Amino acid sequence: MASVTVEDLAKRFGAVTALRPTNLEIADGEFVVIVGASGCGKSTLLRLIAGLEEPSTGRITIGDRDVTYAAPADRGLAMVFQSYALYPHLTVAENIAFPLKVAKRPRAEIATRVKEVAEALELTPLLSRRPRALSGGQRQRVSIARAIVRRPRVLLLDEPLSNLDAELRVRMRHEFARLHAQLQATMIYVTHDQLEAMTLANRIVVMNAGRVEQVGAPLDLYDAPASLAVARAIGSPGMNLLAGSVTAADADGSTIRLEEGAQVRAAVRAEPGAAVTLGVRPEHLRPQDDGVFAGPVELFERLGPLSFVHLGARESSGTVVAQLPGDRRVSLGETLRFGADPARVHVFGEDGAALARLAQPFTLPPSSPVM
Ligand SMILES: Nc1ncnc2c1ncn2[C@@H]1O[C@H](COP(=O)(O)OP(=O)(O)OP(=O)(O)O)[C@@H](O)[C@H]1O
Ligand SMILES: [Mg+2]
Repeated sequence: MASVTVEDLAKRFGAVTALRPTNLEIADGEFVVIVGASGCGKSTLLRLIAGLEEPSTGRITIGDRDVTYAAPADRGLAMVFQSYALYPHLTVAENIAFPLKVAKRPRAEIATRVKEVAEALELTPLLSRRPRALSGGQRQRVSIARAIVRRPRVLLLDEPLSNLDAELRVRMRHEFARLHAQLQATMIYVTHDQLEAMTLANRIVVMNAGRVEQVGAPLDLYDAPASLAVARAIGSPGMNLLAGSVTAADADGSTIRLEEGAQVRAAVRAEPGAAVTLGVRPEHLRPQDDGVFAGPVELFERLGPLSFVHLGARESSGTVVAQLPGDRRVSLGETLRFGADPARVHVFGEDGAALARLAQPFTLPPSSPVM
């Protein structure tokens, strides 16, 4: 059993609170991805679990063992860092073999394991080189190989792919999914990459300012972010966020006036007069002649199967990004208008928390505009 549980775990560095009291339960064999803005405490949480930092308060349990003050080597886990931390005087093969040597495994077993992981990570031709003769991506693959060679029960990864080129990242992402299935290890993985988070995670943990903001399955967080911080952290391109205030509310929903004057309806319960932030994802905007999201095309990104169009910044609300079919032709400067399905509009209160959504999204008569 290699579940990982942290209870009231906190870390201060002098006057800086890197991690506020945090509770998190990660099941045996789960793949958990941690996301959040730079400086929010992701690496601190990982380093505490690894035993590289001592907690200010709280408890860490791996399996049924309290490891809060156990030595890193005694926790049954391995960690891959943003920086590679390879031994410069050892060859690639010796670097990968190192943890097995320390564990005094038989020579034949070491040779077999090194060969296996080298092949899995495409390092076989590099086995006799030293780290200084490798590219950044190759070094990172060596550090991943070194971490998994012992088949740890818990694998901690802190932005392991951030130094790799795009093509290698995709291959390594697939490799991690395969590795997870194969190793059956509990994996805790920090990344800034949306695709890695959405595709690899059983659950995503969103952190913000030293706190866990929301934990859930990728699509649950994507469809129902509990706060602005989660809405910002999940999705690329991100959710459009526009400032507004509630002008009216009834059983069907709320009317919100955006800063530049447009009125929209949203399927949420809100108090008239409240300042709110309205959120709508690019794929939930639809071309609509009288839609309220309008502006000149400033940027057009053609991705092949689909495109993203950036509508010009209006003073108060900033740029709006909308998704269009890949075959749609658009000229720069052309004014486009979009509307949104009210059930797909998120509304966040002044404190950033999502307002309660109505159980039954209301419908409008077919003749009236959607927004
Ligand atoms: N050894 C340290 N001494 C003092 N402050 C630290 C130390 N380590 C981290 N911090 C501070 O703690 C906070 C959290 O840092 P942490 O490295 O956990 O962030 P992060 O979420 O991993 O960020 P990034 O995405 O940039 O890697 C930051 O404000 C950071 O400056
Ligand atoms: Mg970090």
